[in-house]
Amino acid sequence: MNQYVTGAVIKALREKNKMTQLQLSQKLGVSDKTISKWETGKGYPDITLLEPIAEAFRISVTELISGNTVHNANVSANMLRSKFYVCPICGNVIHSMGEAAINCHGIQLTPLEAELTDEYHMTFIERVEDEYYVRIDHNMTKEHYISFVAAVSSDNMQMVKLYPEGSAEARFKIRGVRRIFFYCNRDGLFVIDPVKGIDDKESGYDGSKERRELEKAADMLLG
Ligand SMILES: [Fe+2]
Repeated sequence: MNQYVTGAVIKALREKNKMTQLQLSQKLGVSDKTISKWETGKGYPDITLLEPIAEAFRISVTELISGNTVHNANVSANMLRSKFYVCPICGNVIHSMGEAAINCHGIQLTPLEAELTDEYHMTFIERVEDEYYVRIDHNMTKEHYISFVAAVSSDNMQMVKLYPEGSAEARFKIRGVRRIFFYCNRDGLFVIDPVKGIDDKESGYDGSKERRELEKAADMLLG
């Protein structure tokens, strides 16, 4: 992440917006030479220009500084594409239906990438009437614990917050749930397809490498 807007970012955004240095300079009330200076690293735009520059490119100041611009074609399309962000300082959890530029405690958060559950984060899912009962075999100490569990369908998200010294379990209405996510404060975000997780794991969990490879391949093929 950049600490301040860089010349490379300004140049890339200007070109993406099909603007000449002159056109950008006119929008900002500076000379085209000034733009050229910024772009070649011979100076920085004054802080009072950050907002006008962001406005000229139709992005936020946060995006401008970080150099990460957000593109969401159709946010409302599908909750299964949800992103989770967790602040490493305070543990704040943010759910987003698409990409976003999110800051917490001065840190630009990046969306967490979910991994398939592993032998240290074994997950057991039972169907109890119209609910999934999800239990994760994991410590719940202050140092190492599961901080939330979420069940996501194409049009709905259910999230349960967990706390140290509590138990690593949650219940969700089954309707349409396609993915169960949970977050371990040390090991990150995990995901499991509830249909794959049901029952078979409690009795004879097959955590072999071959099975994981197969699951990964199936996930890539089926999306
Ligand atoms: Fe863990």
